[in-house]
Amino acid sequence: TPVVIAIDGPSGSGKSSVSKAVAARLGLAYLDTGAMYRAATVWVMETADLEDPTSVATAVRAMPLVMGVDPAAPGVELDGRDVATTIRGTEVTTNVSKVASNLEVRAELKRRQREIIDQESSPTEAVLSGGRGIVAEGRDITTVVAPDADVRVLLTASEEARLRRRSLEVHGAADASAVDATRDQVLRRDRDDAKVTSFHTAADGVVTVDSSDLDFEQTVQAVLTVVAQ
Ligand code: CDP
Repeated sequence: TPVVIAIDGPSGSGKSSVSKAVAARLGLAYLDTGAMYRAATVWVMETADLEDPTSVATAVRAMPLVMGVDPAAPGVELDGRDVATTIRGTEVTTNVSKVASNLEVRAELKRRQREIIDQESSPTEAVLSGGRGIVAEGRDITTVVAPDADVRVLLTASEEARLRRRSLEVHGAADASAVDATRDQVLRRDRDDAKVTSFHTAADGVVTVDSSDLDFEQTVQAVLTVVAQ
C-alpha cells in the first residue's frame, strides 16, 4: 500500500533537499509545503493587502496554484506562470511568515496539502499510475497536516550548522560576514514561525534526525534507515 512520509524541521536543517532525495530514491511523489506558503505570499503581494488579514485570507482562498509532485522537478505554477524561482526571492522570504501566521491561510493550505497527500497515497492512485505514496515536507507536517503519516521525521541541526548551510545557499559563501548576514534573517523568521508552528522539538512518535554532523548523503541515509524500520 502507498506510504506517507512526513518530514519537518527548521530552515537550514536540509529538509527540502533531503526530502526530495528520499522521494526520488523510493520512487515517491514529493510535496514542498513551504513552497505553497511562498507562492501564497507572491499571490498576496500581487493581488491583496499584506497588512489586512481578511484581504490576505480571501486572496489565498482564491489562489490558482498548481503544485507539481515530481521530486526531480517539483513545479510551482501560479495562475499559469512558473514561479519556482520567484518564490525563493528575498522579498518573499521576508514576508512569508506574515502570510503563514494567518490562521485562515493555514486552514486553506492545510486543506490543499491534505488533498494532494490523500490523492498520492490513495489505493486507486497506486493501481492507476503505479503511485507508491508521497514524501511531504514542511514545518507542521508531522503534527498538523499529516499526524497520521506512516513515517514522521523531525530533521534538526545546530544553529551553527543551519546558518552555515543557509548562508551557502543564499550567498554562495559561509565566511563570517556571509553567516552574519544570514543570521538575522533566519533567526527572525524562526522566531516568527515559532509563534504558529512548532518545529524545534519532536512530537510524540516523531523520530528526530540530527544532521549537524552529517553530510547530505549521510542525512539521506539516516532518513532512509528510519523509513525502513
Ligand atoms: O526557507 P525554509 O526552508 O526555511 O522554509 P520553507 O520550507 O521554504 O518555508 C517558508 C515559510 O513558509 C516558513 O518560514 C513558514 O513561515 C512557512 N511554512 C509554514 O508555516 N508551514 C509549513 N508547513 C511550511 C512553511
